[in-house]
Amino acid sequence: MRIETRFAWIIALCFLFGVATAGYISYRLESQQAREEVKQRADMLLEVATSVRSYTVDEVAPLLQAMDASTFHASQVPSFAAQSTIKRLGARYPEYRYRETALNPSNLHDRANDWEVGLLRTFRTDSARKELSGTVGEGGDRRFYVARPIRVGSGACLRCHSTPEAAPSAMLAKYGPNNGFGWKMGEAVAIQLVEVPTVAAEQRAWRSVLVTVGSLSCVFVLSAAVFLLLLRRHVTHPLEALTRAAHATSVAPRSGPPGDGRGDDAEALSPAPGGQFRDLHDAIVRLKTSVDRALTLMERQPPGASSGGANGHDGPR
Ligand code: HEC
Repeated sequence: MRIETRFAWIIALCFLFGVATAGYISYRLESQQAREEVKQRADMLLEVATSVRSYTVDEVAPLLQAMDASTFHASQVPSFAAQSTIKRLGARYPEYRYRETALNPSNLHDRANDWEVGLLRTFRTDSARKELSGTVGEGGDRRFYVARPIRVGSGACLRCHSTPEAAPSAMLAKYGPNNGFGWKMGEAVAIQLVEVPTVAAEQRAWRSVLVTVGSLSCVFVLSAAVFLLLLRRHVTHPLEALTRAAHATSVAPRSGPPGDGRGDDAEALSPAPGGQFRDLHDAIVRLKTSVDRALTLMERQPPGASSGGANGHDGPR
């Protein structure tokens, strides 16, 4: 196998290993970042809703009560204020969802579905639990959700959620006396549920993994091409020239001692490679010259003067 091919294979293997490792690490980091980003958005939305709830309880409800205690305005209801505000946010961010759902809601639209009932039951059985989160949905509709329990935290809530008799009559007229009552102090009656799509963040994560892998591949391929070209130019070519020269020198007519008229054929036959290979080239030429001289000297000696080893097989049998 040619030296460039061997190097190309080694580089390709290193490249594959490097890119696979970098891709995997980048994927892990990016998807973790995507998850954190989505979670942060969900938390933010939940905090906004909670703030609207407390603003309504602290600022709006007392004002309306002070103006006219006998009337009922939906805008003094914390749940109504929070859901209406986030609904308006939906004009700009339609993919973000926020709901407050209960087992026994005042507004039947807020009735929990099976999955939400499961979440609410978890909060009811484990009163220390403050939050549940995870992903729901499939494919392009995958969403990250965060759910927190709504507990009846003050006597003010019970004015409208304990018995129909205690509730404002205007509220009864609108919502009816059959649902949204019988809530107990401290009880987890509903959940705040926010859902944020994960697809956009996941796509962004994949894009940046692709950019990392793509740019790494470009750098690797470019470096490998330059390296192989340089290898060819400065190593393989001189080596081939040297091999050709050595071969030509070995089959060329033997050069005699200086001044015998036969000339230095080895030097004449060999093309001179550059760089460090020149030393090797010169050494081969010198070796060839020395061997030629030694052989010429041996040829000039009379046959009897040799050690006689050449006729070893003529000895006694
Ligand atoms: C003035 C009456 C009133 C007060 C006070 C009040 N609520 Fe409500 N609550 C309502 C009404 C009416 C609705 C239905 C709103 C709608 O149309 O979305 C509601 C809705 C809710 C919901 C959503 C589920 C459902 O029943 O539709 C939750 C949860 C809730 N209230 C909890 C509370 C808590 C906790 C408090 C105390 C901080 C409280 N409410 C105080 C009247 C009241």
